[in-house]
Amino acid sequence: MTVILSVAVMVLAAGALQAQEPQKAVPAVDKPVQQPAKSAGTSSVLQPVSEEPPGYSGSESCQVCHEDISLAFKKSRHAVVETERRRGWEGRACESCHGPGAKHAESADTANIRNPSKLSPDKADAGCLSCHTMQPTHVGRVHGSHGKNQVSCASCHSVHTPKPTHGNRMTRINGQCGACHTSQRASFQRPYGHRIPQGAMSCADCHNPHGTQLTASLRLSTGGEPGCLNCHGDKRGPFTYEHAPVRLEGCQSCHEPHGSANPRMLTRPTISQLCLECHAGITQPGGGTNTGALGGIPPAFHDLRSARFRNCTICHTKVHGSHVNRALLK
Ligand code: HEC
Ligand code: HEC
Ligand code: HEC
Ligand code: HEC
Ligand code: HEC
Ligand code: HEC
Ligand code: HEC
Ligand code: HEC
Ligand code: HEC
Ligand code: HEC
Repeated sequence: MTVILSVAVMVLAAGALQAQEPQKAVPAVDKPVQQPAKSAGTSSVLQPVSEEPPGYSGSESCQVCHEDISLAFKKSRHAVVETERRRGWEGRACESCHGPGAKHAESADTANIRNPSKLSPDKADAGCLSCHTMQPTHVGRVHGSHGKNQVSCASCHSVHTPKPTHGNRMTRINGQCGACHTSQRASFQRPYGHRIPQGAMSCADCHNPHGTQLTASLRLSTGGEPGCLNCHGDKRGPFTYEHAPVRLEGCQSCHEPHGSANPRMLTRPTISQLCLECHAGITQPGGGTNTGALGGIPPAFHDLRSARFRNCTICHTKVHGSHVNRALLK
């Protein structure tokens, strides 16, 4: 009795599984199917080869019913898949993403065709990555938050639509990122910030949406330095006298990269507060004062009660590093 029951449970469970995953019936992402070589001579007459490999019906057949998408697609970057033989999908671009479509083209039944938006994000992305492998889109994805949080390729890329000709590329990217990251978008509205709202640069100048090995998917410059140096090249070393945090902790140890209420996008309202965060002696329980926790302490002649000494960068002008002076004075 228990045997029969458990078999019944198994059958039921299998049925439920199938019901949950209707896409099972849809063919998996395929390698391009090589067309059988058309041999010269009479044999090809004796054994006629169909135009398309089995299961495929070609993009022209799709156009009959999906005219808008097909016409728009011809102007998109993916149209090269349709025309360039060497890519292995000549004449069958639609099916490079949607799988063999002959059955669907005959029945017009949605159950016979793969719709990436109905797949789980990882399965849908695997289809894209079957071609976009060995690109930044692929290599950083394991580390980035988008891959880990099921933000699929298609949530940012609309593949059939032609390249938009209107508007500014930066504004389009920022609008898209900002739609999900509302608090980050708002941080650029602070009094001192990078000019994202004006469309002068984009989120993708600092972040790689496909992920990188760094925290927050930050980009590096071509030399492997912080991506900030792509634009702020004058802060690039190597300096004879480095200011340790610039290299070790990065620009964001003193600046709020998106935007800030403080001038120069600093993390503190006044410069001395910022410097003294690291360059201050910490009083020990025993009464003595140790050297600064992170940096050295200013020599005694710095009278911090006097306004003259509170504006540190009046004297320490080379706060990002100096070629000539150890105390970063010039
Ligand atoms: C005979 C007409 C016809 C042909 C030919 C045809 N389709 Fe469709 N297709 C349909 C209809 C009808 C739908 C359902 C539309 C709807 O629900 O709005 C559909 C839906 C789809 C969908 C969405 C499926 C879903 O689950 O929502 C995809 C993807 C698709 N077609 C791709 C193709 C591709 C690729 C081809 C060529 C290989 C093709 N179609 C050829 C009629 C056709
Ligand atoms: C580069 C991959 C790719 C190619 C090539 C491609 N599609 Fe799609 N298609 C998608 C993705 C991803 C979706 C689901 C997300 C979306 O709607 O953008 C989709 C959705 C669809 C849908 C259903 C949703 C809708 O917009 O009505 C249809 C129909 C469709 N595609 C038809 C086609 C046809 C016809 C072609 C060839 C002219 C084609 N696709 C080429 C990736 C592709
Ligand atoms: C059959 C192979 C193939 C598949 C599958 C494929 N792509 Fe592409 N993709 C290409 C080719 C080829 C190009 C053009 C590359 C070029 O111009 O150098 C391209 C270009 C692109 C571009 C650049 C467009 C631009 O305007 O710069 C994006 C974005 C893109 N693909 C996203 C996707 C997404 C998202 C998917 C999955 C829904 C996908 N691709 C699936 C082959 C493919
Ligand atoms: C969070 C949004 C987002 C996601 C998710 C995303 N992309 Fe992109 N992708 C972008 C942006 C933004 C660009 C840069 C466009 C530009 O500079 O004009 C881009 C550029 C590209 C390009 C052009 C070449 C390049 O590498 O710069 C390809 C190809 C591409 N993406 C494919 C993919 C694929 C495949 C996936 C899924 C594995 C994916 N993208 C996921 C936003 C995204
Ligand atoms: C569809 C919504 C969506 C869009 C569009 C989107 N993101 Fe995200 N992003 C997320 C989610 C979800 C996470 C992970 C959870 C979190 O950290 O908020 C994330 C995380 C991040 C992170 C955190 C750190 C990391 O390791 O990646 C950065 C940076 C980021 N996104 C930048 C961008 C940029 C730049 C764009 C535009 C090219 C963008 N996002 C577009 C949803 C989105
Ligand atoms: C000037 C470079 C720059 C620009 C432009 C930029 N970011 Fe960032 N972003 C950073 C840096 C640097 C961090 C890391 C901050 C840290 O480590 O504390 C970061 C962190 C993030 C994070 C992680 C969570 C957080 O707030 O710390 C998200 C999400 C994010 N940025 C989204 C965006 C979006 C969306 C845009 C465009 C509207 C954008 N960023 C534009 C440099 C930039
Ligand atoms: C795409 C180029 C670009 C990148 C990348 C970039 N910046 Fe900027 N940054 C600018 C521009 C342009 C301005 C001037 C903005 C203005 O005029 O309002 C600026 C302004 C600043 C300012 C304020 C300067 C002042 O005089 O008030 C600081 C601080 C700053 N950036 C730090 C950073 C940091 C830190 C990073 C990396 C996380 C970074 N920037 C990445 C282009 C860039
Ligand atoms: C130790 C703290 C600190 C670090 C780390 C730091 N900065 Fe600064 N930065 C400052 C201070 C303080 C000012 C304001 C100087 C003044 O007003 O005299 C400033 C000013 C700036 C300015 C505007 C004025 C100018 O000199 O052009 C830019 C741009 C800038 N920093 C970029 C960067 C970049 C890029 C990095 C990373 C490579 C970085 N900063 C790292 C403290 C720092
Ligand atoms: C995030 C912590 C941090 C901040 C903020 C910071 N510094 Fe430093 N600073 C350091 C460290 C660490 C050293 C290296 C100390 C060493 O080598 O003994 C250093 C070195 C120096 C030196 C060189 C002298 C020496 O001891 O080698 C001067 C001068 C200096 N900092 C001034 C400043 C000024 C001015 C500011 C504010 C604009 C500032 N620092 C902000 C951490 C910081
Ligand atoms: C009036 C000019 C002036 C001001 C303002 C000033 N300093 Fe200095 N600072 C100096 C001089 C001069 C030296 C000594 C350089 C030497 O010994 O060769 C020095 C040395 C230092 C050193 C040690 C450098 C070393 O080589 O060991 C630190 C750390 C430092 N200052 C931090 C600060 C901080 C933090 C502030 C703001 C609270 C500040 N300074 C304000 C002139 C100034």
